[in-house]
Amino acid sequence: MKIAVVGSGYVGLVLGACLAETGNDVICVDKDAAKVRTLRKGRVPIYELGLTELVNRNTAERRLSFTTQLGRAVKASQIIFIAVGTPQGEDGSADLQHVLGVAREIGRTMDGYRVIVNKSTVPVGTAEKVRALIRRETTHPFSVVSNPEFLKQGAAVDDFMKPDRVVIGAEDPRGAELMQALYTPFTRTGAPIMVMDCASAELSKYAANALLATRISFMNEVANVCELFGADVDRVRQAVGADRRIGTSFLFPGVGYGGSCFPKDVKALIRFSADKDYDFEVLKAVESVNDRQKRVLVAKLKRHFGSLKGRTIAVWGLAFKPKTDDMREAPAIVIVKALLDQGAKVQAFDPEAQRMARSIFGSKITYAAKSYDALKGADALVIVTEWHEFREPDFDRMRKLMRSPVIFDGRNIYHPQQMKAHGFTYSSIGR
Ligand SMILES: NC(=O)c1ccc[n+]([C@@H]2O[C@H](COP(=O)([O-])OP(=O)(O)OC[C@H]3O[C@@H](n4cnc5c(N)ncnc54)[C@H](O)[C@@H]3O)[C@@H](O)[C@H]2O)c1
Repeated sequence: MKIAVVGSGYVGLVLGACLAETGNDVICVDKDAAKVRTLRKGRVPIYELGLTELVNRNTAERRLSFTTQLGRAVKASQIIFIAVGTPQGEDGSADLQHVLGVAREIGRTMDGYRVIVNKSTVPVGTAEKVRALIRRETTHPFSVVSNPEFLKQGAAVDDFMKPDRVVIGAEDPRGAELMQALYTPFTRTGAPIMVMDCASAELSKYAANALLATRISFMNEVANVCELFGADVDRVRQAVGADRRIGTSFLFPGVGYGGSCFPKDVKALIRFSADKDYDFEVLKAVESVNDRQKRVLVAKLKRHFGSLKGRTIAVWGLAFKPKTDDMREAPAIVIVKALLDQGAKVQAFDPEAQRMARSIFGSKITYAAKSYDALKGADALVIVTEWHEFREPDFDRMRKLMRSPVIFDGRNIYHPQQMKAHGFTYSSIGR
């Protein structure tokens, strides 16, 4: 099929490359001319496992191309995905200006039947708004489809190629059938394609993210209570997760959730529920617990050292989670800023996020080229992101590099007993 994908970010680029991989002709559109130039040179501007190979292969096979010209892409395509950002607006609601702007432009330039697909995460009712906007701009027939994306950054290509499910919100059979045909190659192992009304599809995405965020905040509270009673959250987590009604994933305590989705999607769901006079109380608590959790490590550091003024603190991990370079809403931002506010000197290392970190912290912190370099002369190490390479380090080497052998582990990647044996003062979450 002939496809256009508008917005070539974490979602749009993965979507475009994966659809090209199954034989479709895909034009990726972005308004960021520098990004398009980079992509045309065969360079992928984000870190996502396997994406560069996929983009290069499909570009070489001429199934994938990049442009800044939306109109050209609309004319050449049957199905147009909108995968632009829906950032948080000032009142917590999702800012739809990019989505609606693109929809209007599609309406103006389409010259025959088109399927317009909302891939961006958008509040309930957005498909209806998009439909009304396009209807105002064109007399040609069209279908509007809601197709929320559930991929995880860090495993985005794999998630897209092998989804747990595909959700399609459609109000007419023509659009639904084309979408089912497009997704069939990705669901051969039996993953369901769920066709439903647009409102349910739109809400499914928010409900999924909000439930995952709820699990995280819930377990962070359990971890905090574990500390008060001398219980071990690892034991509790295993006992709870063994229950098949609960399951084992998303039960790890830490320093709070971040990223481009959970924080803004939780806020948006609270907000659009409030628009219908519904007070989503659980989610308000999820949010405030998360804000508090981002500060627990620095509070522990202060309790240990008294004052952090003049202390050198090494930070391992800046990205909001491993296997991505993304620092949007990362707990590391709150933690590093709090350390700087307390007068500490920060030496940070992240395998992929340093470029993004420089745009946030500038020269206020130092950036180590290697994980061990960050430890030189450090009074303590703070672990914020659980990258694989931090899991089995050379503890003797670490101890020799540090001024004092103190570790605050925000991701529970080491065992307290093991750390004691290695001669470290070790503090983690809920143990
Ligand atoms: N990142 C994720 O893991 C994830 C997962 C599922 C859903 N989503 C949702 O997908 C959407 C996109 O997220 P993302 O992380 O890919 O965002 P992103 O910021 O990485 O990418 C958005 C891209 O859209 C481009 N853009 C904005 N306005 C444009 C316009 N008018 N014309 C052309 N291009 C335009 C931007 O330049 C940018 O490259 C959001 O609604 C997000 O909530 C994201």
